[in-house]
Amino acid sequence: MDVRVSVESPQTVDGELLALFAFAQPEALDIVATAVDAALGGALLESGDWVGKAAQTSLLYTRGALGARRVLLVGLGARDAFGLEALRLAAAASAKAARKLRLTHYHAALPVGDGLALDEMAQALVEGAVLGGYRFTGHKTDEASESPSLQGLTVVCAATEADSVTAGAERGRIVAEAVTLARDLANEPANYLTPTMLAERAEEVANAAGLRYEVLEEADMAELGMGALLGVAQGSDEPAKFIILEHNAGRTDLDTYVVVGKGITFDSGGISLKPGGGMAWMKDDMSGAAVTLGVMQAVAALSLPLHVVGLMPATENLPGGRAYKPGDVLESMAGLTIEVISTDAEGRLILADALAYARRFQPRAVVDLATLTGACVIALGHVASGLMASDDDLAAQLTEASARTGERIWRLPLFDEYAEQIKSDVADVKNVGGRPAGTITAGLFLKRFAEGYPWAHLDIAGTAKVDKDRGYILKGATGHGVRLLVDWLRVQAG
Ligand code: BES
Ligand code: MN
Ligand code: ZN
Repeated sequence: MDVRVSVESPQTVDGELLALFAFAQPEALDIVATAVDAALGGALLESGDWVGKAAQTSLLYTRGALGARRVLLVGLGARDAFGLEALRLAAAASAKAARKLRLTHYHAALPVGDGLALDEMAQALVEGAVLGGYRFTGHKTDEASESPSLQGLTVVCAATEADSVTAGAERGRIVAEAVTLARDLANEPANYLTPTMLAERAEEVANAAGLRYEVLEEADMAELGMGALLGVAQGSDEPAKFIILEHNAGRTDLDTYVVVGKGITFDSGGISLKPGGGMAWMKDDMSGAAVTLGVMQAVAALSLPLHVVGLMPATENLPGGRAYKPGDVLESMAGLTIEVISTDAEGRLILADALAYARRFQPRAVVDLATLTGACVIALGHVASGLMASDDDLAAQLTEASARTGERIWRLPLFDEYAEQIKSDVADVKNVGGRPAGTITAGLFLKRFAEGYPWAHLDIAGTAKVDKDRGYILKGATGHGVRLLVDWLRVQAG
């Protein structure tokens, strides 16, 4: 993505399209839009069509009155509801309009914000535009029939604003590229993105970003006693991979944070086979790992002064003659034995070993992300991720990051009473707790393995993909969690 900042007056911008933002009527245009309106002889509001409600757009052809060939007025909604999220949504509307015109690059003038920090406004503008202009390149052979995805954006501002705007726009680019990476990986079909391919992509990202890369093969996992992860992997011909990325590896002077992402590249349910209906989308069951990879790319690009570790246990979950079975007992790396009630509750099994592995880093906190339970989709829909945590401070930090980024999360309790449901007659714990509170019993299962550090779990089953566009969140994989965790880690870095 080519994100630039240009110090010039909006009237002189030379380009195909200049986007301007305005509050809902009866609010007056800000000084930026007023200047453009004057150059256009009052054309912006002349027709009376302009209401300025959120994401409303109005396109004008300037016919030489301005440097830019077209001006797009974009609504910010009511002034008293304005904030970074409104700006992201308006920016996404501008990017969609640009794409409809088949433009791959356009200019946008930063609106005059009501007391918002300029760098944060610039970041929000770039995030909204890049994410709203996203398209999964996919596997269509007739590329020409599709509007291309957005390639670049130039943010126009005044000289006094340039430093803050440049810093914010750069941060916006880094974060949006990380979300784009996560979306691309999760949208990728499972025959293109096997655990081996995921490891290769992670290695490429690591090399480009300067991260330490390591992958554990099945023999390494066996040596470590990762019987839960290996149990899930048994049914697949594709070898499992345990991918490890590190930012600032070896810097013992820095605080350590670990992000863990579920990397089931395809979840058929295994012997406890899923019904046919929604199975095609189980290619996105590695969204947690995709988000983790995005976060690692971003923390490296931002040079955060933290030691950040990304753990991505990756395997397919398939039935077969060698597959693990309901009733099997697996021995996990933590030493706890697990009775397998359903082979479709595989995510918590691979995470159990990853959470045990996380201990060796003596982290300040561990956050895992997983498309873990259908029950979470029922509870919170596609709007918010489920948050569960063993530590109230960590939960509060994440909730604050959620408010800043607009990536909604909602905390569910891990009351001891629910743990009754995952008691096993033959092993230390069982992998299914029945239908009631299915998201919470999954969280409590993980908690057994997340010992020795503050821990939080995000169930992204409902938020990892959406079936229709919502502002800058487009149909398909969303990358939900990248912006949240990057913001959280930035704050931890101080
Ligand atoms: N990957 C699924 C969860 C899921 C379901 C994600 C729907 C997105 C949409 C997970 O591995 C799973 O199958 N969970 C089971 C657990 C059950 C067997 C206890 C579920 O939620 O049905
Ligand atoms: Mn499953
Ligand atoms: Zn799954």
